[in-house]
Amino acid sequence: MLVKTLLPAFVAIGSAAAQSGTCTANGGTTTINSQADATQMASCKTLKGDVVIGTNAGPAIDISGPGEITGALRILNNGLIESFTSNDLTKVGGEFRIQNTTKLSSLNMPKLTSAKTIQWQSVTSLENPTLGPLTSADEIIISDTVLRTLDAFQLKTTRKMDINNNPRLTKFNMGLQNLGEIMALQANGLRDQGIDVDLPNLVWIANMTIANVSTFEVPSLRVVNGSARFDSNFFESFSAPNLTALTSGDLSFIGNAQLTNLTFPKLTNIGGGLLVANNTALEKIDGFPELTHVGGAVKLRGSFDEAELPSLENVKGTFDASSTTDIDSSCKEFEKHAPQGEGGNGDVQGSLTCTSNNTRANEETGTDIVGGGSGGSGDDGENGAVGMSLNSALFGLVALAGFAVAL
Ligand SMILES: *[C@@H]1O[C@H](CO)[C@@H](O)[C@H](O)[C@H]1NC(C)=O
Ligand SMILES: *[C@@H]1O[C@H](CO)[C@@H](O)[C@H](O)[C@H]1NC(C)=O
Ligand SMILES: *[C@@H]1O[C@H](CO)[C@@H](O)[C@H](O)[C@H]1NC(C)=O
Ligand SMILES: *[C@@H]1O[C@H](CO)[C@@H](O)[C@H](O)[C@H]1NC(C)=O
Ligand SMILES: *[C@@H]1O[C@H](CO)[C@@H](O)[C@H](O)[C@H]1NC(C)=O
Ligand SMILES: *[C@@H]1O[C@H](CO)[C@@H](O)[C@H](O)[C@H]1NC(C)=O
Ligand SMILES: *[C@@H]1O[C@H](CO)[C@@H](O)[C@H](O)[C@H]1NC(C)=O
Ligand SMILES: *[C@@H]1O[C@H](CO)[C@@H](O)[C@H](O)[C@H]1NC(C)=O
Repeated sequence: MLVKTLLPAFVAIGSAAAQSGTCTANGGTTTINSQADATQMASCKTLKGDVVIGTNAGPAIDISGPGEITGALRILNNGLIESFTSNDLTKVGGEFRIQNTTKLSSLNMPKLTSAKTIQWQSVTSLENPTLGPLTSADEIIISDTVLRTLDAFQLKTTRKMDINNNPRLTKFNMGLQNLGEIMALQANGLRDQGIDVDLPNLVWIANMTIANVSTFEVPSLRVVNGSARFDSNFFESFSAPNLTALTSGDLSFIGNAQLTNLTFPKLTNIGGGLLVANNTALEKIDGFPELTHVGGAVKLRGSFDEAELPSLENVKGTFDASSTTDIDSSCKEFEKHAPQGEGGNGDVQGSLTCTSNNTRANEETGTDIVGGGSGGSGDDGENGAVGMSLNSALFGLVALAGFAVAL
């Protein structure tokens, strides 16, 4: 009986399933091309397979009724849809992808708390989406949108987060506690102003590449398991007051033009290298009072007139300090740690160089600082790829959707 109320594209997977309200798409994908299609699904408790909103569906689609989609939910390449509502959906078992939807300005899914991944890209009218909020997702990619807030996402843990090119996003505050692979932030907020980032509960993170932020607060951060890289940010001050170690990767600060104060009061151990370069306003590098072990190289380059690493005992790679100003007195201290063959105590295992009055000190920002082992440098190439991937899986699904329409 229920079968009759379903879209032609559905078949019930058996009477037991039908009685429990499970609807299964023929071919694995249900395509919704109109509100009438959506209304026919209202009696399904669970939609098995993927749900695709057709490219000509709209302006308003409401798929209230179903509580779960076992596969993906996709709204792609649709220039008509303005509003999408799903009052009962709590879970999307696959990816929830919205891509290239230029008119969508209202997304109302007040019970959605879980999706395998979130991938919203080129969503150019949606400012304030409503989700459960979402508390469970393995991956969140938000790119080229006009979102003003990420309040719809309240995760305590996730694997990957890539938030880039969202010009109206000026604040990011989340109770995230840990992150298993990488956080990448770039080009959010107004150009030259950036985004304020507050992660008060973050205790450990595998890797992070942070660019163009105006503030970055991580008061609880204790461990970075891989690398942390800060490029072209707008902050004047950066502190990781509770960070004790980067267990396997590099710590880098490159080209943060306004940075004057960099402090890591508890940091003792960097598994990879330390690179502080081309932060032209930074006059003193004195924020590493406890730093003892560096598994890679140390490279300090800039316009500073004083640098010190008073607790340093072991650098496995080379040590290179160079400034546009006279740092002769700092060099004398560093030279005490030089390899024995260079007249020092051997704390630094690679060779040590320290130069003053180097007019080119800000020009070299090379990242060849990882010394052996498992240095997990953040992967720049990956960031770029994430922003533009229209992968073959997606094309495959578009084709499937076309097939369902033909039915
Ligand atoms: C974006 O969607 C529009 C339809 O709204 C389509 O014409 C266009 O080709 C799509 N762009 C891409 C890159 O797929
Ligand atoms: C990162 O380090 C923390 C603290 O040592 C640990 O609990 C966590 O499991 C590590 N995470 C990864 C991905 O290795
Ligand atoms: C944003 O950061 C990137 C480096 O990741 C840099 O190339 C770019 O110039 C920065 N943009 C601004 C406006 O600072
Ligand atoms: C900093 O670390 C100490 C010791 O692990 C801990 O007791 C304290 O709560 C941490 N502070 C913050 C703000 O997380
Ligand atoms: C992140 O950190 C882990 C170590 O916790 C490392 O194995 C991995 O290669 C790093 N890089 C990325 C892109 O996840
Ligand atoms: C630098 O920042 C640290 C931590 O926020 C702060 O305690 C210290 O007073 C600052 N130093 C200067 C010179 O502003
Ligand atoms: C750096 O330049 C200044 C000014 O020309 C000079 O007084 C100083 O001796 C130079 N320092 C070194 C180490 O060459
Ligand atoms: C150094 O940083 C400035 C911005 O402060 C930037 O214009 C310049 O290109 C950077 N130089 C290098 C070699 O990255």
